Amino acid sequence: MDKKFKRTLVTTALPYANGPVHIGHLAGVYVPADIYVRYLRLKGDDVLFIGGSDEHGVPITIKAKAEGVTPQDIVDRYHNIIKDSFAELGISFDVYGRTTSDTHRRTASDFFRRLYEKGEFIEKTSEQLYDEEAGQFLADRYVIGTCPHCGNERAYGDQCEACGTSLNATDLINPKSAITGNAPVMRETSHWYLPLDKWEPRLRQWILEEHKEWKPNVYGQCKSWLDLGLQPRAVSRDLDWGIPVPVEGAEGKVLYVWFDAPIGYVSNTIDCVGDDWTRWWKDPETRMLHFIGKDNIVFHCIVFPAMLMADGTYNLPDNVPANEFLNLEDDKISTSRNWAVWLHEYLRELPGKQDTLRYVLTANAPETKDNNFTWKDFQTRNNSELVAILGNFINRAVVLMGKYYGGEVPEAGELTEFDRQTTEEVRRAAEAVGLNLDNFKFREALREAMNVARAGNKYLADSEPWKLVKTDPERVKTILNVAIQICANLAVIFEPFLPFMAGKLCRMLGIDRLDWGMAGRFDLIAAGTKLGEPELLFEKIEDSTVEAQVQKLLDAKEKNRLAAWKPEPVKETVDFPTYEKLDIRVGKVVECEKVPKADKLLRFLIDDGMDKRTIVSGIAKFYKPEELVGKEVCFIANFAPRKLKGVVSEGMILSAQDSDGRLVVIGPQGEVAPGSSVG
Ligand code: 2FM
Ligand code: ZN
Repeated sequence: MDKKFKRTLVTTALPYANGPVHIGHLAGVYVPADIYVRYLRLKGDDVLFIGGSDEHGVPITIKAKAEGVTPQDIVDRYHNIIKDSFAELGISFDVYGRTTSDTHRRTASDFFRRLYEKGEFIEKTSEQLYDEEAGQFLADRYVIGTCPHCGNERAYGDQCEACGTSLNATDLINPKSAITGNAPVMRETSHWYLPLDKWEPRLRQWILEEHKEWKPNVYGQCKSWLDLGLQPRAVSRDLDWGIPVPVEGAEGKVLYVWFDAPIGYVSNTIDCVGDDWTRWWKDPETRMLHFIGKDNIVFHCIVFPAMLMADGTYNLPDNVPANEFLNLEDDKISTSRNWAVWLHEYLRELPGKQDTLRYVLTANAPETKDNNFTWKDFQTRNNSELVAILGNFINRAVVLMGKYYGGEVPEAGELTEFDRQTTEEVRRAAEAVGLNLDNFKFREALREAMNVARAGNKYLADSEPWKLVKTDPERVKTILNVAIQICANLAVIFEPFLPFMAGKLCRMLGIDRLDWGMAGRFDLIAAGTKLGEPELLFEKIEDSTVEAQVQKLLDAKEKNRLAAWKPEPVKETVDFPTYEKLDIRVGKVVECEKVPKADKLLRFLIDDGMDKRTIVSGIAKFYKPEELVGKEVCFIANFAPRKLKGVVSEGMILSAQDSDGRLVVIGPQGEVAPGSSVG
């Protein structure tokens, strides 16, 4: 850490408590933040790790309305699900609070009041969107319309998820109420605005000049915002769910969720450390880091810092290592379409596999660009990397130690040139892990950590202790001593990434405390140490496990498709004489067979009551020919003959197309004589 700092405050975006968290949240924010915090703790740094749920705002009230329950019911339910699942994944928050807490209500109100009293807000009356049927103003996600920047027709009143632009509800083209679907009217209302334009010169200087080291995606987004010019931003809303605006004459108004949520970081710090919170927020020797996803950049780099500047007594963040988005099986993760891997379900369906998820999400982290998660890749990384490289090396070292020395670590003799090359490679890789973590390069850090395991495997494979044990037993002692020291290095450098594996490994090696200073050292396990029982570190993931997960996603896709299906609009009206022209009859299938070289076609021989006629129909995908023989079907008897794949078809068999595209043949419900007219 930079010498000018004595401690680090790490915050993670507060997820809305309107649903569980999914792998996109984890890869973007919580896994990297947890890796970073664990790394700092191993280095002995003073660090505080803040998390919590965001329990206000329209996302919560919309969900409550959809379920017919209260917003409080929603946040109580999801706060607990989220909190428990984070804990089970090993996300090691010092506190996981909530923005409906008393501490937060007080802290956010005080923050607003202080700015209000300092004259930092502008009070403005303007025309806002109003839903007359619902009897309420339409803020944020209560209004959906076309994004003026990219043309996305489902942009929200606060943000377009397609292009990431942050919007005002009145910017939307063709706005519609998300409550009633009605077009809103304009109605006057007054709100408090934070004049971001006032802070623009300072924000420019602070970000564009003093923080050129920020990740390019973060710096770039801030620059384009600043280059567009900042406008005053409303910090209150006409809603009945939220923290009441704490000034006179503000009945029916609450704090805008993006005003109250980041103050949640402060409230949760207070809940964690009490009065000492000012040291974490106001002492210039504290470094603050915000881990967030890319959709939150502007709020953490511009809006919240402007609030902190307006207060004037707080530190500003030192860095905001935001990630891009994670896709799932080549499609955007979507809560509404249920296209997601939900953490609480993962933990239930793949028990004991926390480290695998942490590993895969880090190896594929969307650090510089959007990235993709696939179950196939998940399985391959588990089986070919965690099992075959990391688990395999540790297992071989520990098993050989048991076999040759009863699990008691032997004394190392003089190191050979090859031993020294190996220890040097481990030292280099371990150092690279730290350097990459210092720079928020988690993927590269993990790759370097794996290189240590690779070096260990190569060391055992090339030195072949299982052969030497017969010819040079002294040399084998050195080899296994070195191998077990590599295992101890793995325990340290993998702890931030795979804490469950590291815990088991420590038990096996008799290590009771890890610290980063151990990385790159080869005197970590003293000769004579008796190793603990070997434990299974990673298990192979079978095809059936990932296939079940893929099927779950396909089922969700199918459910969405069915939910979205609508019958075709009714065609143009026809009069009775036109209708009468169509001659529909009942016929009996005498023969039915596939048309050669045509996947879709069946050839029917139909008894039409007068004669037999041939009809070709495109339903081969949906029926076996023999199951239709003897059945009665309806067909258009006066349909002009036409040639299909060389067969002349004399009529058309009627079938209905189902929502999934399936064709179902139409026939009479009871037996009728072939040739009967249908009408
Ligand atoms: O985008 C979101 O999910 C927000 N709930 C993040 C809030 S971060 C912070 F400011 F609290
Ligand atoms: Zn857009």
